[in-house]
Amino acid sequence: MKLTVIGGGSTYTPELVDGLARMRADLPVSELVLADPDAGRLELVGGLARRMLARAGHPAAVVTTGDLDAAVEGATVVLLQLRVGGQAARHVDETLPLACGCVGQETTGAGGLAKALRTVPVVLDIAERVTALAPDAWIIDFTNPVGIVTRALLDAGHRTAGLCNVAIGVQRRAAKLLDVPPERVSLGHAGLNHLTWVRSIDVDGADVLPKLLEEHAEDLAGAASMPAAFIRGLGAVPSYYLRYFYRHDQVVEELRGARSRAEEVAALERDLLDMYADPALDTKPARLEERGGAFYSEAAVQLAASLLTGRGDAQVVNVRNGGTLPFLDDRAVIEVPARITATGPEPLPVPPLEPLFAGLVAHVSAYEELALDAALRGGVDRVARALLAHPLVGQADLADRLAGDLVAANREHLPWA
Ligand code: G6P
Ligand code: MN
Repeated sequence: MKLTVIGGGSTYTPELVDGLARMRADLPVSELVLADPDAGRLELVGGLARRMLARAGHPAAVVTTGDLDAAVEGATVVLLQLRVGGQAARHVDETLPLACGCVGQETTGAGGLAKALRTVPVVLDIAERVTALAPDAWIIDFTNPVGIVTRALLDAGHRTAGLCNVAIGVQRRAAKLLDVPPERVSLGHAGLNHLTWVRSIDVDGADVLPKLLEEHAEDLAGAASMPAAFIRGLGAVPSYYLRYFYRHDQVVEELRGARSRAEEVAALERDLLDMYADPALDTKPARLEERGGAFYSEAAVQLAASLLTGRGDAQVVNVRNGGTLPFLDDRAVIEVPARITATGPEPLPVPPLEPLFAGLVAHVSAYEELALDAALRGGVDRVARALLAHPLVGQADLADRLAGDLVAANREHLPWA
């Protein structure tokens, strides 16, 4: 089978290749196509991918290309992991809102909206080529903001599922704390992408979350950057992205004095690419762990394998709500465990969300709908409406000012601006 990675020149790609090599029995890839407009990166990343597969004795051919149509034609799975505007645009997302006292983050709040505006049109253009040239292909979207991008793809009629590594990260952490294999751990994970809580953790049919919170709250809280007592009080494990809500003002203070994550990642990427250039390197370098993509490869390979074979196991994905969270629009995209069948993910029932969680989910889901509308139709007024609907912005003057500033700073990436 042909697996195509859009944004294949990403420094994350060796993480994926490592998973393909380790989980070869699950996903028999014969051709790995890395597509990217950046030829220099492609050469370095492609070279390492070839050496890694050769070392593992994996038979797949690695093709690098800047030609989108050639990349997607006849593909079985297309993985989207692109970043419009690169780390430079991300730096703006992370720093511009800080001047207004708002959190700067590439998926949350005003920065996340800017990223959605840049990304949705590009992803839709790519998906159109996929659906034209590989109509049976599955599009797996890891491109952020995953909830909004997945909704855009589904609304346009593409065969797609959205993916994030937050849930698999919690699953692996819990398995380690409990000293059981991760396959035996299933999460009661619910919410929206980067806005989720794990409200139960099942091992062999029993909920071990209360025990974990009693014995390992420090560990779980540290991973979420929140105090242990707070997590015990919630009775759930929040995604680490919830710190941008629950500790908003403190995070803004911390971010104001610090180097942006974009600057950190840009520096790390320079080092990684230097390493990838070494013809003697044929494994994933340890320093790749300094990026946020831990277990991305496992999650992506598992999802692709189950979509292709229809094996019907449960995996956490971004999927159409369809009544699962009854207080949201059926067409909203949510992040929950779903049964992965050959016709796509089917969300599993979710016990009713407590008001403490449901309120925020409803609020951010409404924002996501308006954000997608702004990304599709453009216009600074639509951008301001989305910000007005966002719980971390919400004030009229602030929304107007941020909308104007974000659109001005992203003009080169916005066809309508
Ligand atoms: C996690 C999130 C991704 C995000 C990434 C950022 O993997 O699930 O959605 O893109 O972190 O990692 P980075 O190394 O770019 O900061
Ligand atoms: Mn994510």
